[in-house]
Amino acid sequence: MRTLTVDLGERSYPIYMGQGISDQISRYLAERGILPSSPLLVVTDSNVAPLHLDRLKTALGEGGYRVHDCIVPAGEASKSLDQLAEIVRVGLEAGLDRSSVIVALGGGVVGDLAGFAAASYMRGIRFVQVPTTILAHDSSVGGKVAVNHPLAKNVIGAFYQPELVLYDMQLLRTLPPRDVRSGLAEVLKEGLILDKEYVEWLSDHADALLALEPKALEDALFEACRIKAEVVGQDERENGIRAVLNLGHTIGHALEAVAGYGTLMHGEAVAIGMVGAARLAEYFGRPRRLTETIRDLLLRFDCPVTIPAELDTDAILEAMMHDKKFREGKLTFILPVDIGRVEISRSVTREQVRSVIEQLKQEEQPCG
Ligand SMILES: NC(=O)c1ccc[n+]([C@@H]2O[C@H](COP(=O)([O-])OP(=O)(O)OC[C@H]3O[C@@H](n4cnc5c(N)ncnc54)[C@H](O)[C@@H]3O)[C@@H](O)[C@H]2O)c1
Ligand SMILES: [Zn+2]
Repeated sequence: MRTLTVDLGERSYPIYMGQGISDQISRYLAERGILPSSPLLVVTDSNVAPLHLDRLKTALGEGGYRVHDCIVPAGEASKSLDQLAEIVRVGLEAGLDRSSVIVALGGGVVGDLAGFAAASYMRGIRFVQVPTTILAHDSSVGGKVAVNHPLAKNVIGAFYQPELVLYDMQLLRTLPPRDVRSGLAEVLKEGLILDKEYVEWLSDHADALLALEPKALEDALFEACRIKAEVVGQDERENGIRAVLNLGHTIGHALEAVAGYGTLMHGEAVAIGMVGAARLAEYFGRPRRLTETIRDLLLRFDCPVTIPAELDTDAILEAMMHDKKFREGKLTFILPVDIGRVEISRSVTREQVRSVIEQLKQEEQPCG
């Protein structure tokens, strides 16, 4: 078992990572002062529930916790106010009180939704992240919780930190290949932002990671969580440096919204968005070679690098204007400077973005 700490003063919390550690969940909860005196609610989704819910409930039952569950439909569409209301209903009927805890068992969708439910239920109860996807290395750490509005992603939300993150590598074994690839795109993002050596290591271990080889996966996710925790520790509320984690997300979020939530997976949209960001960086003097390197890395992980031609360019641009990164009439872009280094730019014009979107729509996705 390995441990990291998200260092946020009195809101600091541990990330535990290892094989089979969710079986010990009761012990970890007790260590954080979460006692079985109040009922506890596990929020999960319809794919994860049949695979992993019973095991977690058994482990919680052994610790004496009275466990209720709320199973939302799998998919991005569940990050909605409707599902938030459903969790609140189940919570109220189960008698959850202000000492209760919500456990998010699932990927980023469940983590973001259940976390926001915890932030708002009775003005805030504690919550615990038990991530079950590769992508959730990112979403489970850092306390950004939210639901979507049909017009834009993550625009109804809060900063609300969990009590702990329990990352059990065994739960990842059941991931379908498309989720593996999508998650690895976001892992690669952490490296592209801050750590060239890590990117090289990831590239060398691409086959092992795609095959979910346990040692490689744990090493990769430990490092990804370390980078995430370090950035969040420096800038919890994204007043500065934390924005770099949005590499690929300005275009990515717009693609997700325009394609229809759940059509493109989050990591897939971010992969395309990172190629877009690299193309934009070329306007500011970065070499085409850098774009090609990023594109080749993403292709090593079988990620998409082109925009589906049927997506409307104006609709994509329009969606960006609703993004949280659009402020005072300007879009914020994170642009790669080199592998492992990015800059925050407020100088990208709408015409440059339009041109890059058009280019990425005209290109063909190379075969993996
Ligand atoms: N809060 C943040 O800081 C942050 C950061 C990155 C991403 N996100 C959000 O995370 C979401 C994407 O996360 P995601 O890719 O994990 O999506 P997800 O939660 O939808 O999971 C992807 C798919 O995998 C299934 N699944 C999950 N665990 C499984 C398992 N162990 N075995 C089999 N199937 C499993 C899910 O049911 C779903 O169909 C997006 O909404 C994105 O906005 C948030
Ligand atoms: Zn992301």
